Amino acid sequence: MTPPTTAFDPSTLYLGAPDVAHIVACKGLSPCIAGIAARIEADFKRWPAFDKSARVASHSVDGVIELMPVADHERYAFKYVNGHPKNTLRGASTVMAFAVLADVATGAPRLLAEFTLATALRTAATSALAARALARPGSRTMALIGNGAQSEFQAIAMRDLVGVRSLRLFDVDRQATAKLLRNLHGAGFEMLACASASEAILGADIVTTVTADKTRAAIVTPEMVRPGMHFNAVGGDCPGKTELHADVLRRAAVFVEFEPQTRVEGDLQQMPADFLVTELWQVLAGMHPGRTDASQVTLFDSVGFALEDFSTLCFLHDAARELAIGDTLALVPQLADPKDLFATVGRPTRAPTGRQSCDAFPVGHRNRTAAPAHPQGQQR
Ligand SMILES: NC(=O)c1ccc[n+]([C@@H]2O[C@H](COP(=O)([O-])OP(=O)(O)OC[C@H]3O[C@@H](n4cnc5c(N)ncnc54)[C@H](O)[C@@H]3O)[C@@H](O)[C@H]2O)c1
Repeated sequence: MTPPTTAFDPSTLYLGAPDVAHIVACKGLSPCIAGIAARIEADFKRWPAFDKSARVASHSVDGVIELMPVADHERYAFKYVNGHPKNTLRGASTVMAFAVLADVATGAPRLLAEFTLATALRTAATSALAARALARPGSRTMALIGNGAQSEFQAIAMRDLVGVRSLRLFDVDRQATAKLLRNLHGAGFEMLACASASEAILGADIVTTVTADKTRAAIVTPEMVRPGMHFNAVGGDCPGKTELHADVLRRAAVFVEFEPQTRVEGDLQQMPADFLVTELWQVLAGMHPGRTDASQVTLFDSVGFALEDFSTLCFLHDAARELAIGDTLALVPQLADPKDLFATVGRPTRAPTGRQSCDAFPVGHRNRTAAPAHPQGQQR
């Protein structure tokens, strides 16, 4: 066998929740959303280069836990994410996530990152990319229904990438709307808290629904739809969980991320298997016209696709290295002889049932040993 020409670096960069928040603080929220949107757009434009599959979901009474893999010829990514709408009642977020980026050539994990904040950033960036391509030019007013964890990010992405300046807000929880009003005070929006979804939708160019409830809801009904509206339906993202009446979809040109996944998870789950949809990448790549006239109703049935996480992981990896943020993890062992994994536990000194003494381990294996791949970062 030919000996390896370069030494294998087994280290993994770790970005915890404070690290990703630190990256956003250093670079700025708007530049981060714009940077992630640019990566997602570039990756969507090379859609055929990716090995894609619908996510694997494990459903329970109150929620879902999902694994979302995707790869190109260089990098593999997956995200672990949950959706538990009742979590906020017990002080936990509805959506929590972490994700991994790995080298395809070796399988070595290169980045382990928090993805709760990152999911909000990438979901907002994707919504704004879709609206920029599909909403009527000059769209300035957005109804924002559901004012929870994702909502401010959706508003800021739509402000920065689409030009939205006016928000019409509704949430069944008035405190959530009050929180949004506080958070976005001074962010350049005219904001109005509305008493119902139908009031919020009145006069809106774009309607974003980003609610959390594990039920077949119909928050938007056909009589609320006006010619030329663009719908950005974010919260219907799981079997048995919808936000739009089926006739709203019938009225619209419907765009999706990855069709096989959205057929099962999106508001699209209500429609027959032959209901026509277009994948968003085709619009971004110039292969489909998107909106055809100013009176057409367009609808982006967002469920969240693994490629958006891949693009965001790549953005965070580059940003962390540029800013020297994050720690180096010894997630995989560093071996002098890769066939000698046994060396990591040392030679047993006692009979099989007894516990080994710490002293039986070779010096250096008692400590965490990965060489720092990112010299400025600390090792854990
Ligand atoms: N498509 C994607 O890529 C993507 C990504 C992240 C989250 N999501 C989904 O977006 C939704 C919101 O996520 P979040 O993290 O903001 O959750 P959250 O629990 O923080 O906020 C959801 C808000 O919706 C409100 N709400 C529930 N039912 C409502 C109704 N009928 N009318 C008006 N408001 C209502 C709740 O009061 C709450 O304030 C979830 O369903 C989540 O699964 C989708």
